[in-house]
Amino acid sequence: MTVESEILRLSEFGAPEVLSWQKQVLPSPAPGEVQIRHLAIGVNYIDIYHRRGVYAAPLALPSGLGVEGVGEITALGEGVSGFALGQRVAYVGGPPGAYATYRNLPAARAIALPEGLDSTQVAALIFKGLTVEYLIHRCVPVTRGDTVLLHAAAGGVGTIACQWLHAIGATVIGTVSSAEKAEVARANGCDHAILYTDEDFQARVAEITGGKGVDVVYDSVGADTFAKSLDCLRARGTLVSFGEASGPVPPLNVASLGAKGSLYVTRPSIAHYTAVRAEYEAAAQRLFAAMQAGVVRASAVTTYALSDARKAHEDLEARRTTGSVVLLP
Ligand SMILES: NC(=O)c1ccc[n+]([C@@H]2O[C@H](COP(=O)([O-])OP(=O)(O)OC[C@H]3O[C@@H](n4cnc5c(N)ncnc54)[C@H](OP(=O)(O)O)[C@@H]3O)[C@@H](O)[C@H]2O)c1
Repeated sequence: MTVESEILRLSEFGAPEVLSWQKQVLPSPAPGEVQIRHLAIGVNYIDIYHRRGVYAAPLALPSGLGVEGVGEITALGEGVSGFALGQRVAYVGGPPGAYATYRNLPAARAIALPEGLDSTQVAALIFKGLTVEYLIHRCVPVTRGDTVLLHAAAGGVGTIACQWLHAIGATVIGTVSSAEKAEVARANGCDHAILYTDEDFQARVAEITGGKGVDVVYDSVGADTFAKSLDCLRARGTLVSFGEASGPVPPLNVASLGAKGSLYVTRPSIAHYTAVRAEYEAAAQRLFAAMQAGVVRASAVTTYALSDARKAHEDLEARRTTGSVVLLP
């Protein structure tokens, strides 16, 4: 079925002003694809890297933007089974293109939504929640009694990570840039909130852990935090560098990991942890179960009209948002 869709088309890299809207006739879904009418679309920091063209593999232009959404199926491509018209699905990945009223998507990325989960909540949680799922359960499995340092603890990924780590029984030390954000982090399960714009977070971590250091650091801030994050680890601890909101991580001298205590460093991506359909489905089921049990929830969702995506980008990159940001068509 062809439909008219409002699609955000990225024709050049740059500031939020490069985001522009087009009306487009969307063709019928190709074999193996489903067509979706979006109900809610999550905004992620990766969308900003994509828009700026700073990602390791920049998008081929022109391109759509947006890597997650929730919608209902309006058409099925040839050979698609296991989905039905009108069914609600969520997805993470596929070609960027979630900033649109309708889109076609590889059926392999669609996940059926259980009854009772609100579309906006799912859009707020699916990409960020699946990120937290793989970070704390599969990349470095965190167990009760572990101590974790988590940067940007009041952000989208950060608030969900605080909730889930708290439920596991870990001690969560979170960094944030303001007193208001410290409140948000604490309300989501952060045990110790450090204002890293005012305080030396390495010194505070040493104080909180009695000089021992933490078991794991989850660092999505990058340039501004990476070096000190390494110095917050206990011997044989792990630094998970999973983002670069402040800029790229500087080159690493591998020999220094030995001198600092036989440390581990990994740079994971959700793409590699959800590429295999069985792993993707199992991760989504674990996230939905955590949502249904109240272990994770989108506690602070900021919504914008889809047509205000530019404003959403401005607020996210100016560090004005807490929790998740969602666009509503
Ligand atoms: N590797 C993966 O698989 C993967 C998957 C999903 C997300 N991520 C990464 O996870 C991070 C969080 O994503 P999100 O969508 O939930 O965003 P977010 O955390 O809501 O927003 C980014 C936060 O980073 C902090 N920050 C520190 N320095 C900054 C700077 N110079 N400019 C802007 N922000 C700065 C800000 O918190 P404060 O104001 O408190 O400092 C800001 O709110 C991003 O780095 C993203 O790329 C990685």
